[in-house]
Amino acid sequence: MEEYMLETRHISKAFGKQLAVDDVSIKVKKHTIYGLLGPNGAGKSTLLKMLTGLLRPTKGEIVINGHPWSRKVLKDIGALIESPALYGNLTAYENLLVHAKLLHLPDSRIQEVLNIVGLENTGKKKASQFSLGMKQRLGIAKALLDHPKLLILDEPTNGLDPLGIQDLRKLIKSFAENGITVILSSHILSEVKQLADYIGIIQNGKLRYEGKIDESQDLEKLFIDVVNKQ
Ligand SMILES: Nc1ncnc2c1ncn2[C@@H]1O[C@H](COP(=O)(O)OP(=O)(O)OP(=O)(O)O)[C@@H](O)[C@H]1O
Ligand SMILES: [Mg+2]
Repeated sequence: MEEYMLETRHISKAFGKQLAVDDVSIKVKKHTIYGLLGPNGAGKSTLLKMLTGLLRPTKGEIVINGHPWSRKVLKDIGALIESPALYGNLTAYENLLVHAKLLHLPDSRIQEVLNIVGLENTGKKKASQFSLGMKQRLGIAKALLDHPKLLILDEPTNGLDPLGIQDLRKLIKSFAENGITVILSSHILSEVKQLADYIGIIQNGKLRYEGKIDESQDLEKLFIDVVNKQ
């Protein structure tokens, strides 16, 4: 069986003369949580966007579950990149219904994912009236609809309160326990330390560090050492 859910092989993305992602090779083992760290502008979102097909790599290869990247692999990928695209005038249920129809999923799946993210009681409230945390949750529900094997989350705790962050952390852990592989980016080192099994640190588009982590590690020191070494 394939050991890795995701591999990037020397991928780069150029915007004009700037290499936003520069020859990055990462490996994400199945059923693990991989945390992507790096300063602002390091290239994290650009890397994640290439995984979901929002951007095309200038060079290199992406392999998902043993298959070279193509539109077909999107079936296995759920993603929340930057802020979720929602229909403000629709309820949580209706937002998901639009996607469930497109994906030919049974309506019953909508209630399932609403339960998973804790939005089952939002009733007639429209998405435009949701708090930031509720919007994030709805974005994650959307990413989960089609039973992804790989979940890609770009700064999922952005704008959440401490309780929301804790809830989301539990939720993400539960995904991994249920056989979903997760790659997420974050600025919050303490979060990543509690969540991730592996981390990658990127800076100026380059992968500076990749390795296994555990809760005993001083991630702050590692991050600062890696970023300052350059
Ligand atoms: N569409 C684009 N056109 C031109 N340059 C871009 C584009 N998208 C990103 N960039 C540039 O690529 C670099 C990496 O940006 P990216 O958004 O990937 O960083 P990031 O690591 O996600 O940062 P942050 O932590 O602030 O979210 C930045 O210098 C950014 O200005
Ligand atoms: Mg970003």
